[in-house]
Amino acid sequence: MEQNRAPIFEAVMKYADLRPAYFCVPGHRYENGADTQFRSFAGDNIFKIDLTETLITDDLHCPVGAIKEAQELAADLWGADHTFFLVNGSTCGNEAMILSAVKPGEKIMIAGNCHKSVYNALILSGTDPVYIMPGAVHDWGISGGVSPVEVERLFQQYPDCKAMLVTSPDYYGIVSDIRSLAEICHRHGALLLVDEAHGPHCYFSEKLPEGALRCGADMCVQSLHKTAGALTQSSLLHVKGSLADIEMLRSSLQIVQSSSPSYILMSSLDTARRDLALHGAEMTEHALELACSARNMINSIPGLQCADRELEGNAAIFRIDETRLIISASGLGLTGFGLKAVLLERYNVEVEMADSRSIVAIVTYANTRDDIEKLVSALRNIAEEYSDGRPLAESTVLPGQAVCAMTPREAFFAKKKIILWSEAKGCVSAEMIAPYPPGIPVIRPGEIFTDEILDHLKHVRASGGYIHGLSDDTMETVTVIDPQQ
Ligand SMILES: Cc1ncc(COP(=O)(O)O)c(C=O)c1O
Repeated sequence: MEQNRAPIFEAVMKYADLRPAYFCVPGHRYENGADTQFRSFAGDNIFKIDLTETLITDDLHCPVGAIKEAQELAADLWGADHTFFLVNGSTCGNEAMILSAVKPGEKIMIAGNCHKSVYNALILSGTDPVYIMPGAVHDWGISGGVSPVEVERLFQQYPDCKAMLVTSPDYYGIVSDIRSLAEICHRHGALLLVDEAHGPHCYFSEKLPEGALRCGADMCVQSLHKTAGALTQSSLLHVKGSLADIEMLRSSLQIVQSSSPSYILMSSLDTARRDLALHGAEMTEHALELACSARNMINSIPGLQCADRELEGNAAIFRIDETRLIISASGLGLTGFGLKAVLLERYNVEVEMADSRSIVAIVTYANTRDDIEKLVSALRNIAEEYSDGRPLAESTVLPGQAVCAMTPREAFFAKKKIILWSEAKGCVSAEMIAPYPPGIPVIRPGEIFTDEILDHLKHVRASGGYIHGLSDDTMETVTVIDPQQ
């Protein structure tokens, strides 16, 4: 196919040239109505291509022209049978995959370390989750992969599961054995859905873990804004094989996507795809080379540790994506939250995420050697400065899977009440509480609070982490299901 083309971008540029007298949405009429300061900062062109559905620009919800062609080019590049452009991020892709694959009351196997969008999809769809906890990497206090042996065991116990959803790679770059999971799911007549939000680049280097579609996944979502060049919120949903119900998927996408999809975002998807098609191998090699050299340098700094492929084979970890740097300064007595703050405040280096033990830096094709030098030299200085620090005592153990008292949807619609945080043990949560990033809930609506969960959340907050989903940000009270319904 003509991978050097970018049909949506070409269409919006053509429209900007024609510049008809405009009586449609959006109301700003090209650059004319844009706020002066915004316009002078962003430039005129961005407003010229902020358009609506027309004969030239096509329609995301019923594509027959430029958008159809652009989606076909993306499908060709990633090896899918169908690809859908998403303007509400992988968030809406996860929702659509689940809505289309599993009916209300049916069972779906869900990895316990999924992004909150997956659990929100359970509320929307009314499906009944069977949770599977990934392995635990105790030294790092993080989740590992999803074990095929455990998945097989759960299918024996719940043979009526219609699908399974797993995140791979996850925020830390940890990849599960997707090929084995696909084989098990298909043998049990279930679909394998993969949240591959962090993995669109994996298809462009043999040194990286193999992409989920190539390993037999039936559907996957990819955030092209996370590791490729698309703008924030721009993602893809790929389908391969004959198990997915394409018409249900289309209908589901109508529910979860805006009826005014942004042509700026769609153009960015289209051109990010073109860039990867033409230069993906060099781009990915560049990211890998930078990340691997950073990892080697960081591992030679006393008191610091950067995770490497030695993690593979433990805790059901099949592979790791080496473009992710998981860095710990716990040997110097610094938590991940502390390290992230020092890096930003003192060295003007921003990393993606922190937990109580480590930070995660995402290295992409667009990073430079200079960026890596700044990161490594900041880490060297920090190591010297904190060389007297007492190593952190023990790694934080992530709380196990909470017990479910009701489905997420039942809990979402149930009568609720506010109680003191100190009285929450044993109560059923009405909240989905997730340290963010990574946005993986520690408790979801319908699950029972334990001391372990309450302590973990307090610990995250005390160590400086952000938490999403709290009804009371001071953590004095919490919303639970009222037992007197
Ligand atoms: C694993 C995972 N899945 C899905 C999402 C949601 O993706 P998006 O930001 O594209 O909506 C995220 C966001 O951080 C994520 O980490």
